[in-house]
Amino acid sequence: MKKKENDNSLEKIVSLAKRRGFVFPSSEIYDGFTAVYDFGPYGVELANNIKATWWRTMTQLRDDVVGLDSAIFMSPKVWEASGHVKGFSDPLTECRKCHSRLRLDALLEEAGVFADEKMSEEEINGIFEKSKEKIKCPNCGAADFTPGRNFNLLVQSNLGNFTGDWSKEPTYLRGETCQGIYVNFKNVMDTARVRIPFGIAQIGKAFRNEITARQFIFRTREFEQMEMQYFVKPGDDKKYYEEWKENRWQFYLDLGIAAENLKWHKHENLVFYAKEAYDIEYNFPFGFKELEGVHARGDYDLQQHSKHSGQALDYLDPTTNEKFVPHVVETSVGVGRTFLAVLCEAYCEEEVAGESRIVLKLAPKLAPIKIAVFPLLKNKPELVKKARAVFDHLKLDWRCEFDDNGNIGKRYRRQDEIGTPYCLTIDFSSLEDDDVTVRDRDTMKQERIKISELENFFLAKLKK
Ligand code: GAP
Repeated sequence: MKKKENDNSLEKIVSLAKRRGFVFPSSEIYDGFTAVYDFGPYGVELANNIKATWWRTMTQLRDDVVGLDSAIFMSPKVWEASGHVKGFSDPLTECRKCHSRLRLDALLEEAGVFADEKMSEEEINGIFEKSKEKIKCPNCGAADFTPGRNFNLLVQSNLGNFTGDWSKEPTYLRGETCQGIYVNFKNVMDTARVRIPFGIAQIGKAFRNEITARQFIFRTREFEQMEMQYFVKPGDDKKYYEEWKENRWQFYLDLGIAAENLKWHKHENLVFYAKEAYDIEYNFPFGFKELEGVHARGDYDLQQHSKHSGQALDYLDPTTNEKFVPHVVETSVGVGRTFLAVLCEAYCEEEVAGESRIVLKLAPKLAPIKIAVFPLLKNKPELVKKARAVFDHLKLDWRCEFDDNGNIGKRYRRQDEIGTPYCLTIDFSSLEDDDVTVRDRDTMKQERIKISELENFFLAKLKK
């Protein structure tokens, strides 16, 4: 909706994210480190709020989903069993002149040749061969490329390998968090008193050797995933798949994303494990792209881990005595990708009294700072003292910020840019009547509220 009113170009979002301490390029003082980013002081708050909202929706509000936090490092056998060592790859080509390695689907897309990452390697290579004359290296302009080949995305490490030649026995940083869920399926079943259908949810880091780093934090080499695997009786897949599709769509509406900026994309070429896969796509400044995947994975993962580990990963239905390997419905989304979608959605430029203001209209539950507290003047100790007392009280319940710097207008602008829903000013009449001015970020309307009523006021306002 806001997209039509404002030009939400990615550069503006990147600039705001840097200027206001949301996102910094990793290792910036060393010229950065490709496709890795750090969250700054407001970024970490926003990311934490996204994770807390997801966790609340997926675990606290459900009595059939439990949580897990499995390690990033796992036995290398996990990645053999899951199929990632053999099958987790993207098509890559190399420029014969400058030797840049490039992602084939991205190269085709940039040249205006239709291709997307969901196509099979053969399809993309076929299109590449036919359209070679249209494609130029983005780094040197040459048009001479090696044939496409598959490049494995798993990130290797030398953890626990003391032989020196770790390429022979690599351990991996996990490429997706859900494998930690599969290998703990039995542990959870034996300890958490769960019955099918039930889910296991996890938030954690994942790592991929992405070939092309583009589009800010949309695709990074280190990122966090929020994944949930829902274990169902074979045959019930479809029913629960549809339920989860609906739930996940609603999740984004509840984050304040307009339905018109979301759409479903059905995968025609399924990845090696999937039986059915849909993505929820968001209308990023660079077009509709995948935000979340909802996948029907069948019993592929549990069967594979059962075969490779020699452990039975089946379920005995206590009422029917039926034994089966459960099927899985997965929901999977990146924290960084949700962060970017939420920023793009919230970013607004408005004209106010002949001046433009940038405001992040974030849902209050996501806003890094909920309430900013200002004494009208910095050099009036009685105002500062009273403002401090209000701040010290409110901070017990909400993330607040105290600011006594500059004129009130400037302080409002700063809070607007970081998305703070309410600013509260203590002025001279507050000293007399214990009222304060509360200013609403979106309407910019101001109202006087009694200090004793602030807690109830914000309790009602900050729920959303
Ligand atoms: N377990 C299934 C799985 O990992 P995926 O489609 O490869 O499926 C799921 O990833 C989600 O994780 C994506 O929809 C996206 O939100 C996020 N994601 C994947 N790769 C990413 C990357 N390189 N950078 C940021 N987020 C990523």
